[in-house]
Amino acid sequence: MTPIQETILNKRTTNTPIWLMRQAGRYLPEFRAIRKNNPDFVKLCLNEILSSEITLQPLKRFELDAAIIFSDILMLPYGLNQKVEFKKNFGPFLGDLNLDKVSKLDEIDFVKKIYPVYKAIKQVSDSEITKNKSTIGFVGAPWTLLVYMINKQSPKLKLKDDFFKDNFLINRIFLILEKFLKIHIKNQVDNGAEIIQIFDSWAGLLEEKDLPNYVYIPTLNLVEYVKSLNTSVICFPRGIKNYKDYCEVVKPDAICIDYEVDPKQILKDVKIPVQGGMNPQILLSNKDNLKKEAKKYLDIFKDHPYIFNLGHGVLPETDPNMMDYLVKIVKDY
Ligand code: CP3
Repeated sequence: MTPIQETILNKRTTNTPIWLMRQAGRYLPEFRAIRKNNPDFVKLCLNEILSSEITLQPLKRFELDAAIIFSDILMLPYGLNQKVEFKKNFGPFLGDLNLDKVSKLDEIDFVKKIYPVYKAIKQVSDSEITKNKSTIGFVGAPWTLLVYMINKQSPKLKLKDDFFKDNFLINRIFLILEKFLKIHIKNQVDNGAEIIQIFDSWAGLLEEKDLPNYVYIPTLNLVEYVKSLNTSVICFPRGIKNYKDYCEVVKPDAICIDYEVDPKQILKDVKIPVQGGMNPQILLSNKDNLKKEAKKYLDIFKDHPYIFNLGHGVLPETDPNMMDYLVKIVKDY
Protein backbone atom coordinates (compact mmCIF):
# COMPACT_ATOMS: atom_id res chain seq x y z
CA MET A 1 0.00 0.00 0.00
CA THR A 2 1.27 3.48 -0.77
CA PRO A 3 1.85 5.93 2.14
CA ILE A 4 -1.22 7.99 1.22
CA GLN A 5 -3.40 4.87 1.14
CA GLU A 6 -1.98 3.82 4.52
CA THR A 7 -3.16 7.16 5.86
CA ILE A 8 -6.57 7.05 4.23
CA LEU A 9 -7.44 3.37 4.55
CA ASN A 10 -5.48 2.25 7.62
CA LYS A 11 -5.79 5.61 9.41
CA ARG A 12 -2.04 5.67 9.94
CA THR A 13 -0.84 8.68 11.96
CA THR A 14 2.94 8.28 11.59
CA ASN A 15 5.16 9.15 8.58
CA THR A 16 2.87 11.90 7.31
CA PRO A 17 2.78 11.73 3.50
CA ILE A 18 2.98 14.88 1.36
CA TRP A 19 1.90 16.08 -2.07
CA LEU A 20 0.91 19.59 -3.12
CA MET A 21 -1.85 20.94 -5.30
CA ARG A 22 -0.29 22.50 -8.43
CA GLN A 23 3.00 20.80 -7.60
CA ALA A 24 3.71 20.74 -11.33
CA GLY A 25 3.49 24.24 -12.66
CA ARG A 26 4.85 27.67 -13.30
CA TYR A 27 7.16 27.86 -10.26
CA LEU A 28 9.36 25.18 -11.89
CA PRO A 29 11.80 26.40 -14.56
CA GLU A 30 11.57 23.04 -16.36
CA PHE A 31 7.78 23.53 -16.64
CA ARG A 32 8.17 27.10 -17.92
CA ALA A 33 10.59 25.83 -20.56
CA ILE A 34 7.96 23.44 -21.94
CA ARG A 35 5.15 25.98 -21.54
CA LYS A 36 7.06 28.60 -23.53
CA ASN A 37 6.93 26.43 -26.63
CA ASN A 38 3.35 25.33 -25.97
CA PRO A 39 1.22 28.44 -25.65
CA ASP A 40 -2.06 26.52 -26.00
CA PHE A 41 -2.77 25.08 -22.54
CA VAL A 42 -5.54 22.70 -23.68
CA LYS A 43 -3.30 21.28 -26.40
CA LEU A 44 -0.57 20.80 -23.83
CA CYS A 45 -2.97 18.83 -21.61
CA LEU A 46 -3.78 16.69 -24.67
CA ASN A 47 -0.14 15.92 -25.42
CA GLU A 48 0.37 12.79 -23.35
CA ILE A 49 4.12 12.76 -23.74
CA LEU A 50 4.51 16.29 -22.41
CA SER A 51 1.70 16.13 -19.85
CA SER A 52 3.09 12.95 -18.31
CA GLU A 53 6.58 14.47 -18.31
CA ILE A 54 5.26 17.61 -16.57
CA THR A 55 3.37 15.46 -14.04
CA LEU A 56 6.62 13.72 -13.10
CA GLN A 57 8.81 16.86 -12.96
CA PRO A 58 8.21 17.65 -9.27
CA LEU A 59 8.72 14.00 -8.30
CA LYS A 60 12.18 14.09 -9.82
CA ARG A 61 13.11 17.01 -7.56
CA PHE A 62 11.26 16.35 -4.31
CA GLU A 63 10.39 13.33 -2.19
CA LEU A 64 6.64 13.62 -2.80
CA ASP A 65 4.20 10.78 -2.17
CA ALA A 66 1.91 11.36 -5.13
CA ALA A 67 1.77 12.44 -8.74
CA ILE A 68 -1.30 14.51 -9.66
CA ILE A 69 -1.96 14.32 -13.31
CA PHE A 70 -1.25 17.49 -15.31
CA SER A 71 -4.65 18.33 -16.74
CA ASP A 72 -7.51 20.63 -15.76
CA ILE A 73 -11.06 20.35 -14.42
CA LEU A 74 -12.15 22.25 -17.54
CA MET A 75 -11.11 19.39 -19.82
CA LEU A 76 -14.58 18.04 -19.07
CA PRO A 77 -16.54 20.92 -20.67
CA TYR A 78 -13.93 20.78 -23.44
CA GLY A 79 -14.80 17.10 -23.94
CA LEU A 80 -18.45 18.18 -24.15
CA ASN A 81 -17.53 20.46 -27.07
CA GLN A 82 -17.76 23.72 -25.16
CA LYS A 83 -14.86 25.88 -26.28
CA VAL A 84 -12.22 26.30 -23.52
CA GLU A 85 -9.28 28.68 -23.71
CA PHE A 86 -6.81 29.89 -21.11
CA LYS A 87 -5.88 33.51 -21.55
CA LYS A 88 -2.70 34.86 -20.09
CA ASN A 89 -3.27 36.97 -16.95
CA PHE A 90 -6.99 36.29 -17.20
CA GLY A 91 -7.61 32.59 -16.63
CA PRO A 92 -10.11 30.30 -18.29
CA PHE A 93 -12.45 31.62 -20.96
CA LEU A 94 -15.25 29.35 -22.18
CA GLY A 95 -17.43 29.59 -25.28
CA ASP A 96 -21.22 29.38 -25.44
CA LEU A 97 -22.80 26.17 -24.31
CA ASN A 98 -25.02 24.42 -26.85
CA LEU A 99 -27.02 22.00 -24.72
CA ASP A 100 -28.93 20.47 -27.61
CA LYS A 101 -25.65 19.40 -29.19
CA VAL A 102 -24.26 18.23 -25.86
CA SER A 103 -27.35 16.11 -25.25
CA LYS A 104 -26.61 14.22 -28.47
CA LEU A 105 -22.98 13.59 -27.55
CA ASP A 106 -22.19 9.99 -26.78
CA GLU A 107 -19.58 8.40 -24.56
CA ILE A 108 -17.31 7.37 -27.43
CA ASP A 109 -17.02 10.90 -28.85
CA PHE A 110 -16.32 12.35 -25.40
CA VAL A 111 -13.63 9.79 -24.55
CA LYS A 112 -12.03 10.17 -27.98
CA LYS A 113 -11.76 13.92 -27.53
CA ILE A 114 -9.83 13.77 -24.27
CA TYR A 115 -8.24 10.34 -24.62
CA PRO A 116 -4.63 11.62 -24.23
CA VAL A 117 -5.46 12.53 -20.61
CA TYR A 118 -6.05 8.84 -19.87
CA LYS A 119 -2.95 7.80 -21.76
CA ALA A 120 -0.91 10.24 -19.66
CA ILE A 121 -2.33 8.73 -16.46
CA LYS A 122 -1.30 5.30 -17.68
CA GLN A 123 2.22 6.47 -18.45
CA VAL A 124 2.55 8.14 -15.06
CA SER A 125 1.20 5.22 -13.06
CA ASP A 126 3.36 2.74 -15.00
CA SER A 127 6.51 4.82 -14.48
CA GLU A 128 9.30 3.65 -12.13
CA ILE A 129 9.18 7.13 -10.59
CA THR A 130 5.72 6.55 -9.09
CA LYS A 131 6.58 3.19 -7.56
CA ASN A 132 5.11 3.11 -4.03
CA LYS A 133 3.56 6.51 -4.71
CA SER A 134 -0.06 7.37 -5.47
CA THR A 135 -1.28 8.49 -8.87
CA ILE A 136 -4.05 11.00 -8.28
CA GLY A 137 -6.75 11.67 -10.83
CA PHE A 138 -9.30 14.41 -10.35
CA VAL A 139 -12.50 16.05 -11.49
CA GLY A 140 -14.26 19.31 -10.81
CA ALA A 141 -17.35 18.93 -8.64
CA PRO A 142 -20.66 19.33 -10.52
CA TRP A 143 -21.31 22.70 -8.86
CA THR A 144 -17.93 24.20 -9.80
CA LEU A 145 -18.20 22.93 -13.38
CA LEU A 146 -21.74 24.32 -13.63
CA VAL A 147 -20.40 27.71 -12.54
CA TYR A 148 -17.77 27.68 -15.30
CA MET A 149 -20.14 26.37 -17.96
CA ILE A 150 -22.74 29.07 -17.30
CA ASN A 151 -20.50 31.94 -16.20
CA LYS A 152 -17.86 31.11 -18.87
CA GLN A 153 -15.05 32.50 -16.73
CA SER A 154 -13.96 32.50 -13.08
CA PRO A 155 -16.68 34.23 -11.04
CA LYS A 156 -14.18 35.96 -8.72
CA LEU A 157 -16.10 36.92 -5.58
CA LYS A 158 -19.77 36.46 -6.38
CA LEU A 159 -22.22 35.02 -8.88
CA LYS A 160 -24.23 37.20 -11.26
CA ASP A 161 -27.66 38.08 -9.83
CA ASP A 162 -29.49 36.11 -12.54
CA PHE A 163 -27.32 32.98 -12.20
CA PHE A 164 -30.18 30.82 -10.88
CA LYS A 165 -32.90 32.20 -13.12
CA ASP A 166 -33.10 29.19 -15.47
CA ASN A 167 -33.70 26.24 -13.23
CA PHE A 168 -34.44 23.93 -16.15
CA LEU A 169 -31.05 24.73 -17.71
CA ILE A 170 -29.26 24.09 -14.42
CA ASN A 171 -30.96 20.72 -13.98
CA ARG A 172 -30.17 19.66 -17.52
CA ILE A 173 -26.51 20.57 -17.07
CA PHE A 174 -26.38 18.66 -13.79
CA LEU A 175 -27.73 15.53 -15.47
CA ILE A 176 -25.19 15.77 -18.28
CA LEU A 177 -22.38 16.41 -15.81
CA GLU A 178 -23.33 13.43 -13.71
CA LYS A 179 -23.15 11.13 -16.73
CA PHE A 180 -19.87 12.41 -18.13
CA LEU A 181 -18.12 12.91 -14.79
CA LYS A 182 -18.68 9.22 -14.10
CA ILE A 183 -17.26 8.31 -17.50
CA HIS A 184 -14.28 10.60 -16.87
CA ILE A 185 -13.65 9.10 -13.43
CA LYS A 186 -13.97 5.52 -14.68
CA ASN A 187 -11.43 6.09 -17.45
CA GLN A 188 -8.96 7.67 -15.03
CA VAL A 189 -9.31 4.75 -12.62
CA ASP A 190 -9.02 2.17 -15.41
CA ASN A 191 -5.75 3.78 -16.47
CA GLY A 192 -4.15 3.78 -13.04
CA ALA A 193 -5.54 6.59 -10.88
CA GLU A 194 -5.80 5.08 -7.42
CA ILE A 195 -7.24 8.19 -5.77
CA ILE A 196 -9.71 10.73 -7.16
CA GLN A 197 -9.82 14.25 -5.76
CA ILE A 198 -13.01 16.25 -6.33
CA PHE A 199 -12.31 20.00 -6.54
CA ASP A 200 -15.23 22.22 -5.55
CA SER A 201 -13.45 25.55 -5.81
CA TRP A 202 -16.62 27.64 -5.87
CA ALA A 203 -18.59 25.89 -3.09
CA GLY A 204 -17.95 28.97 -0.95
CA LEU A 205 -20.03 31.17 -3.27
CA LEU A 206 -23.24 29.50 -2.12
CA GLU A 207 -25.38 30.39 0.85
CA GLU A 208 -25.61 27.66 3.46
CA LYS A 209 -29.24 26.89 2.52
CA ASP A 210 -28.26 26.09 -1.08
CA LEU A 211 -25.43 23.69 -0.26
CA PRO A 212 -27.57 20.52 -0.05
CA ASN A 213 -29.00 20.94 -3.56
CA TYR A 214 -25.97 22.19 -5.42
CA VAL A 215 -23.08 20.70 -3.49
CA TYR A 216 -23.95 17.87 -1.08
CA ILE A 217 -26.31 15.81 -3.23
CA PRO A 218 -24.47 15.92 -6.57
CA THR A 219 -21.10 15.36 -4.84
CA LEU A 220 -22.41 12.48 -2.72
CA ASN A 221 -23.52 10.79 -5.92
CA LEU A 222 -19.98 10.99 -7.34
CA VAL A 223 -18.35 9.98 -4.06
CA GLU A 224 -20.47 6.83 -3.98
CA TYR A 225 -19.53 6.12 -7.57
CA VAL A 226 -15.78 6.44 -6.89
CA LYS A 227 -16.12 4.17 -3.85
CA SER A 228 -17.96 1.59 -5.98
CA LEU A 229 -14.80 1.40 -8.12
CA ASN A 230 -12.75 0.50 -5.01
CA THR A 231 -10.94 3.80 -5.29
CA SER A 232 -10.35 6.41 -2.58
CA VAL A 233 -11.94 9.82 -2.89
CA ILE A 234 -10.78 13.12 -1.39
CA CYS A 235 -13.09 16.15 -1.47
CA PHE A 236 -11.98 19.78 -1.50
CA PRO A 237 -15.02 22.03 -0.95
CA ARG A 238 -13.18 25.34 -0.87
CA GLY A 239 -14.65 28.18 1.16
CA ILE A 240 -17.49 26.38 2.94
CA LYS A 241 -18.02 27.04 6.65
CA ASN A 242 -19.56 23.81 7.86
CA TYR A 243 -17.19 20.89 7.31
CA LYS A 244 -18.96 18.77 9.90
CA ASP A 245 -22.22 18.63 7.94
CA TYR A 246 -20.37 18.26 4.65
CA CYS A 247 -18.42 15.22 5.86
CA GLU A 248 -21.43 13.63 7.50
CA VAL A 249 -23.53 13.90 4.35
CA VAL A 250 -21.00 13.50 1.52
CA LYS A 251 -18.77 10.97 3.32
CA PRO A 252 -15.53 11.26 1.35
CA ASP A 253 -12.61 9.03 2.39
CA ALA A 254 -10.62 12.16 3.26
CA ILE A 255 -11.33 15.89 3.39
CA CYS A 256 -9.01 18.58 2.00
CA ILE A 257 -9.19 21.91 3.85
CA ASP A 258 -8.41 25.39 2.56
CA TYR A 259 -6.21 27.92 4.36
CA GLU A 260 -9.11 29.82 5.92
CA VAL A 261 -10.14 26.78 7.93
CA ASP A 262 -9.08 26.56 11.57
CA PRO A 263 -7.25 23.20 11.78
CA LYS A 264 -8.00 22.82 15.50
CA GLN A 265 -11.71 23.19 14.85
CA ILE A 266 -11.55 20.61 12.04
CA LEU A 267 -9.94 18.17 14.42
CA LYS A 268 -12.98 18.54 16.68
CA ASP A 269 -15.53 18.43 13.85
CA VAL A 270 -14.48 15.57 11.59
CA LYS A 271 -13.48 11.97 12.16
CA ILE A 272 -12.15 11.15 8.69
CA PRO A 273 -8.53 11.68 7.47
CA VAL A 274 -7.65 15.31 6.76
CA GLN A 275 -5.47 16.80 4.01
CA GLY A 276 -4.02 20.25 3.44
CA GLY A 277 -4.53 23.61 5.06
CA MET A 278 -1.28 25.59 5.03
CA ASN A 279 -1.49 28.90 3.20
CA PRO A 280 0.57 28.75 -0.05
CA GLN A 281 1.77 32.31 0.71
CA ILE A 282 3.89 30.87 3.54
CA LEU A 283 6.18 29.40 0.88
CA LEU A 284 6.91 32.99 -0.22
CA SER A 285 8.16 34.02 3.25
CA ASN A 286 11.35 32.60 4.82
CA LYS A 287 12.58 29.23 6.03
CA ASP A 288 12.03 29.90 9.74
CA ASN A 289 8.46 30.94 9.19
CA LEU A 290 7.85 28.02 6.85
CA LYS A 291 9.14 25.60 9.46
CA LYS A 292 6.99 27.16 12.16
CA GLU A 293 3.80 27.04 10.06
CA ALA A 294 4.38 23.52 8.68
CA LYS A 295 5.05 22.26 12.22
CA LYS A 296 1.86 23.90 13.39
CA TYR A 297 -0.17 21.63 11.09
CA LEU A 298 1.98 18.58 11.82
CA ASP A 299 1.59 19.10 15.59
CA ILE A 300 -2.14 19.68 15.48
CA PHE A 301 -2.70 16.53 13.41
CA LYS A 302 -0.06 14.35 15.04
CA ASP A 303 -2.62 11.84 16.36
CA HIS A 304 -5.01 12.11 13.41
CA PRO A 305 -4.54 10.59 9.93
CA TYR A 306 -3.18 13.55 7.98
CA ILE A 307 -1.83 14.11 4.46
CA PHE A 308 0.32 17.23 4.26
CA ASN A 309 -0.74 19.60 1.47
CA LEU A 310 -1.49 23.29 1.04
CA GLY A 311 -4.80 25.09 1.42
CA HIS A 312 -4.75 25.89 -2.32
CA GLY A 313 -2.28 25.52 -5.20
CA VAL A 314 1.46 26.32 -5.15
CA LEU A 315 1.87 29.94 -6.32
CA PRO A 316 3.92 30.65 -9.48
CA GLU A 317 6.27 32.96 -7.49
CA THR A 318 7.35 30.09 -5.21
CA ASP A 319 11.08 29.37 -4.96
CA PRO A 320 11.66 25.63 -5.63
CA ASN A 321 14.20 25.64 -2.75
CA MET A 322 11.38 26.47 -0.35
CA MET A 323 9.40 23.50 -1.70
CA ASP A 324 12.41 21.31 -1.13
CA TYR A 325 12.71 22.60 2.42
CA LEU A 326 9.02 22.01 3.12
CA VAL A 327 9.15 18.41 1.92
CA LYS A 328 12.20 17.81 4.14
CA ILE A 329 10.44 19.28 7.19
CA VAL A 330 7.51 16.92 6.68
CA LYS A 331 9.73 13.89 6.03
CA ASP A 332 11.96 14.59 9.05
CA TYR A 333 9.10 15.23 11.45
O1 CP3 B 1 -2.65 20.24 -9.02
C1 CP3 B 1 -2.15 20.11 -10.16
O2 CP3 B 1 -1.06 20.57 -10.49
C2 CP3 B 1 -2.88 19.25 -11.15
C3 CP3 B 1 -3.32 19.92 -12.33
C4 CP3 B 1 -4.44 20.92 -12.15
C5 CP3 B 1 -4.51 22.12 -12.88
N1 CP3 B 1 -5.71 22.71 -12.63
C6 CP3 B 1 -3.47 22.62 -13.79
C7 CP3 B 1 -3.47 24.04 -14.19
C8 CP3 B 1 -5.59 20.83 -11.38
C9 CP3 B 1 -6.00 19.77 -10.36
C10 CP3 B 1 -6.39 21.96 -11.70
C11 CP3 B 1 -7.72 22.16 -11.12
C12 CP3 B 1 -8.44 23.39 -11.41
N2 CP3 B 1 -8.49 24.08 -12.59
C13 CP3 B 1 -9.31 24.03 -10.49
C14 CP3 B 1 -9.60 23.55 -9.09
C15 CP3 B 1 -8.55 23.97 -8.13
C16 CP3 B 1 -8.45 25.46 -7.91
O3 CP3 B 1 -7.49 26.05 -8.41
O4 CP3 B 1 -9.35 26.01 -7.27
C17 CP3 B 1 -9.84 25.16 -11.14
C18 CP3 B 1 -10.81 26.16 -10.55
C19 CP3 B 1 -9.32 25.17 -12.47
C20 CP3 B 1 -9.59 26.14 -13.55
C21 CP3 B 1 -8.36 26.88 -13.89
N3 CP3 B 1 -7.31 26.36 -14.63
C22 CP3 B 1 -8.04 28.22 -13.59
C23 CP3 B 1 -8.92 29.16 -12.78
C24 CP3 B 1 -6.79 28.48 -14.16
C25 CP3 B 1 -6.07 29.81 -14.23
C26 CP3 B 1 -5.44 30.13 -12.93
C27 CP3 B 1 -3.95 30.08 -13.06
O5 CP3 B 1 -3.31 29.60 -12.11
O6 CP3 B 1 -3.43 30.57 -14.07
C28 CP3 B 1 -6.32 27.29 -14.77
C29 CP3 B 1 -5.04 27.11 -15.46
C30 CP3 B 1 -4.14 26.04 -14.93
N4 CP3 B 1 -4.55 24.79 -14.57
C31 CP3 B 1 -2.74 26.12 -14.79
C32 CP3 B 1 -2.31 24.87 -14.33
C33 CP3 B 1 -0.90 24.42 -14.08
C34 CP3 B 1 -1.86 27.30 -15.16
C35 CP3 B 1 -1.58 27.17 -16.61
C36 CP3 B 1 -0.42 28.00 -17.09
O7 CP3 B 1 -0.68 29.14 -17.47
O8 CP3 B 1 0.69 27.48 -17.17
